[in-house]
Amino acid sequence: MAAERQSTEDYIVEMEGITKKFGEVVALEDVDFRLRRNEVMALAGDNGAGKSTLIKCLAGAHQPTAGTIRINGEEISIENPRQAKDHGIETTFQDLAVAGNLTVTKNIFLGREKVNGPNTILGVLDKGRMRKRAKELLEDLEIGVDVDAKVSNLSGGERQLVSISRTLLSDPKIVIMDEPTSALSVEGAERVLQLIERMQNQGISIILISHNLDYVRRAADRITVLHQGQSAGVIEKDNVEREDIVSRMLGGIPDDEPGEQPADV
Ligand SMILES: Nc1ncnc2c1ncn2[C@@H]1O[C@H](COP(=O)(O)OP(=O)(O)OP(=O)(O)O)[C@@H](O)[C@H]1O
Ligand SMILES: [Mg+2]
Repeated sequence: MAAERQSTEDYIVEMEGITKKFGEVVALEDVDFRLRRNEVMALAGDNGAGKSTLIKCLAGAHQPTAGTIRINGEEISIENPRQAKDHGIETTFQDLAVAGNLTVTKNIFLGREKVNGPNTILGVLDKGRMRKRAKELLEDLEIGVDVDAKVSNLSGGERQLVSISRTLLSDPKIVIMDEPTSALSVEGAERVLQLIERMQNQGISIILISHNLDYVRRAADRITVLHQGQSAGVIEKDNVEREDIVSRMLGGIPDDEPGEQPADV
């Protein structure tokens, strides 16, 4: 069917009919989610709607109970985070995993340290190269954080920026951010939003989970809404009132006639 063929070309990620059960708990039921190439797609929904569960199915942290996942039109299974990375998918999870006692450089390279020599057993960590690469990465992203600083000495916003920049080390195609602005000051969130924009300009396709609808409306091209584990619609950002998103999040009947296009905040 023509629509199928078009979808394969347009979408970098297609998740279809995703169901995820945790024992008796049905966290997701028959959810569809599609990410276009180079767009910022927000995922909105109330607490417990299934947002983190859905992206964990894409990040290889969970296995869906049912459903299919296609990347670039090809059906794949993502059994672990390693396989997600192999498909160019990087994730910052809601519970930030940064090690406070280590430096910025070490956090960026955590788990993928550059090693000199023929193999990882005989080789030694190439600290100089890691530091140089971390510095380049942060400069490219215009993140003014010292690579030698201990992460415990950084602000929450700076930690978030380090955590996001870490995902960019492997030149990903898709970056998933679960609540990157929660617990941040207005200024901290502003820097994260600017970073998202730069990442999009670099050609990355982005999934952004946020409870902050003003940030969502500003950063995203489209918004997928979940309500109690089910799809509650996909909204074009340019065509939406804040109230429409909220009513979908709460399971209300969406307004068929959206009002005026909201001004950019
Ligand atoms: N590992 C798990 N074991 C059992 N139930 C789980 C597990 N993870 C999530 N759930 C349940 O699945 C549902 C969806 O949770 P999820 O974390 O995906 O929601 P969310 O939309 O990310 O919420 P929030 O906005 O609070 O982060 C909830 O009812 C939650 O209790
Ligand atoms: Mg969550």
